[in-house]
Amino acid sequence: MDANSTPLVLRRSLLSAATGLAIAATGRSRPASASLGREYMLAAFPSNAPLVGGGRPHTSVWTYDGSVPGPVLRVRQGEPVRIVVHNELDQDTTIHWHGIRLPIAMDGVPGISQPPIRPGESFVYAFTPPDAGTFWYHPHANTLEQLGRGLAGPLIVEEMEPPPVDRELIWMIMDWRLGANAQIEPGFGNRMEAAMAGRIGNTVTISGIVPSDEPVLTGERVRVRLINAALARIIALRFEGHRPVVVAVDGQPCDPHEPANDRLVLGPAMRVDIVLDMQGELGRRYAVVDDFYDGLGYTLTHFAYDTMASGGRRPADMPLRLPRNPLPEPDLKSAEQRELVLQGGMMGGGGMGDAGDMQGMGRAVWAINGMSMTGDGHAGIAPLAMLQTGRSYILRMRNETAWWHPMHLHGHSFRFLRRNGATIPNSIWSDTVLMAPRDAVDVAFVADNLGDWMLHCHVTDHQTAGMMAIVRIGDIGGKQ
Ligand code: C2O
Ligand code: CU
Repeated sequence: MDANSTPLVLRRSLLSAATGLAIAATGRSRPASASLGREYMLAAFPSNAPLVGGGRPHTSVWTYDGSVPGPVLRVRQGEPVRIVVHNELDQDTTIHWHGIRLPIAMDGVPGISQPPIRPGESFVYAFTPPDAGTFWYHPHANTLEQLGRGLAGPLIVEEMEPPPVDRELIWMIMDWRLGANAQIEPGFGNRMEAAMAGRIGNTVTISGIVPSDEPVLTGERVRVRLINAALARIIALRFEGHRPVVVAVDGQPCDPHEPANDRLVLGPAMRVDIVLDMQGELGRRYAVVDDFYDGLGYTLTHFAYDTMASGGRRPADMPLRLPRNPLPEPDLKSAEQRELVLQGGMMGGGGMGDAGDMQGMGRAVWAINGMSMTGDGHAGIAPLAMLQTGRSYILRMRNETAWWHPMHLHGHSFRFLRRNGATIPNSIWSDTVLMAPRDAVDVAFVADNLGDWMLHCHVTDHQTAGMMAIVRIGDIGGKQ
């Protein structure tokens, strides 16, 4: 990277001398002058968190600013934000701003978009989010362990005109494998798990605690920002006695609609914004159930109604539609199609041979079009696809494996066109699309963001065991 180009890598001493004092308490935004936008400081370091609560021991975790999840970063659509990230872990890290359409140098992929942030060093991320919505941030270095030990936080880009709701909740859902004394079990990167569903835990938290009740008032309208920040767990939520209306998927507004089969399905990294009209009975509790895995359903939390109704009043037919984000509309007529075939895993087909042989440590067990990129990102790997800047593309992804994969493309949002030939209703845009075994999906987007972008499965074990590739967007000259 050109030494003159931002971002700067600052030594710790330099950082505290130069900017440490200028930035107020960590994790809190400092309203800088309007033109500068907001500024945050985030430090990654080990700490403890009362995940299970109830007088049980605290869990040793890795945190941003001492909390799990990390602080809610709130920024405004179209306003610059600057985030100084300081690494107080004993290993390299980076932060990826999941779903934000930003310049490649801010994308947080070590060896590809930036050098890793070494222990004791800092890195300044600066970007202007073009889209309002629900996003999140997480490391892109040793992701299995760093995300698995708690490094993740919500990144909320506020609409210029926020929709009229009485209240907003952020439910950042994380999944932990806890053993005795509520401590995280070791064994990240187990090869057998990596070839199956990934590291699914035994403890689910909402915003850092095993939830008990969510207090609500009859008559209020609540926006819930759901973020699945699990390593591998897919969730499917049902709201007993309530009719959630989906207003955004992966941060991007959609036609307001009720979810198919009254079930909200979120793979790892996916977000859904819902609006709930709280019309339950005074004093009653209503279960929120996650029943994604057959026979393993459980009650995640309850809406617990107060015995008093909300005093709030709002127009009965208040619109639920969020303002559209400035996404470039792909031209489907001229779009070129590229096929990406997901291969490998246990019981899988598709040219990975017998992935059941787990002896060869470090061997990839997954592939896309026969290519396996492992880890979190590294230099020197040939791109899987080269796309011409400004042109529209349809990616046809085919899952030849026996497992589910939430497929994520960095730096872009794509229009979700079809699943297994059926048109997707409600104008869904997303950055992560969940594919069931044998699914084929078509997504379309304009390759308008220059750089080498990661395309990978967000089941972190799958990503690090080969289900990852680079999509290069640039001036490739002529037809590629
Ligand atoms: Cu949240 Cu490379 O991804
Ligand atoms: Cu996967």
